[in-house]
Amino acid sequence: MNVLNLDDFSVEQINKILDLAEEFKNGKVVDYKGKKVISNLFFEPSTRTHYSFDMAALKLGCKTQNFDAGNSSLKKGESLYDTVKTFEMFGTDAVVIRHVENEYYKQLEAINIPILNAGDGTGNHPSQSLLDLLTIRQEFGKFEGLKVVIVGDIKHSRVAHTNFKVMQRLGMEVYTSGPLEYKEEGYNYVELDKIIDKVEVVMLLRVQHERHSEKMHETVEQYHEEFGLNKKRVSKMKENAIIMHPAPFNRNVEIADDVVECEKSRIFKQVQNGVYVRMALIHKALEEK
Ligand code: CP
Repeated sequence: MNVLNLDDFSVEQINKILDLAEEFKNGKVVDYKGKKVISNLFFEPSTRTHYSFDMAALKLGCKTQNFDAGNSSLKKGESLYDTVKTFEMFGTDAVVIRHVENEYYKQLEAINIPILNAGDGTGNHPSQSLLDLLTIRQEFGKFEGLKVVIVGDIKHSRVAHTNFKVMQRLGMEVYTSGPLEYKEEGYNYVELDKIIDKVEVVMLLRVQHERHSEKMHETVEQYHEEFGLNKKRVSKMKENAIIMHPAPFNRNVEIADDVVECEKSRIFKQVQNGVYVRMALIHKALEEK
């Protein structure tokens, strides 16, 4: 089974993946006894996604290979397809891929082992969305009727693009906010201060400087003042509302230093849930056609 784009999964299938992740959280044991190998092929930097896929594979008793893009034959002009095909021929059982190009996986249709998408350009980040959903479901026990605002660089964010679509499919009311220059048409834009007291989830995003062709208009201080989540804004949130961020976060830019680990923050819980979700995805990828 490939995991490329959550559009390929029904609401029922998404909930089943979350159920399995919850089972792993509650101690379910699957042990491949070193007989399966997972290859992590990251063509873009990553900490959480890369090493939580690696941790998930290790917890399932798999062996792992971690591709070093900077010292690979990419430097000699080798293509994405030829790189992945090479790993398939080595005998790996599944590949986890992050790549700068949107829908890179369309080049890989002739690959015969499962592909787990760890992020494609500004397009999709399915495992991140699933861990976000698991965190929300653990908190509220449902999705239907919940309101979320995703704040920041919507235009360049694969997390925003993936979550906006899947959260709507799950019955959530999804808004976006942040600088107008990063607004995405059709994504229910609202001013943060007009919505912050009405939502159950405030999801912050980093400004994705690496995907910008032009420099950001605001200074870091202006950004923090206009769009950042500080203690004053937190005090306006609903009593049961939570703060999320896919991370890495920039302290005192989109989120104040003293908010990162405040009582409403679920940011590090998201990181922890990432391991369980990725255990579920690897297990399903290895077991299902
Ligand atoms: N959330 C996320 O994708 O983080 P990394 O870039 O560190 O993997």
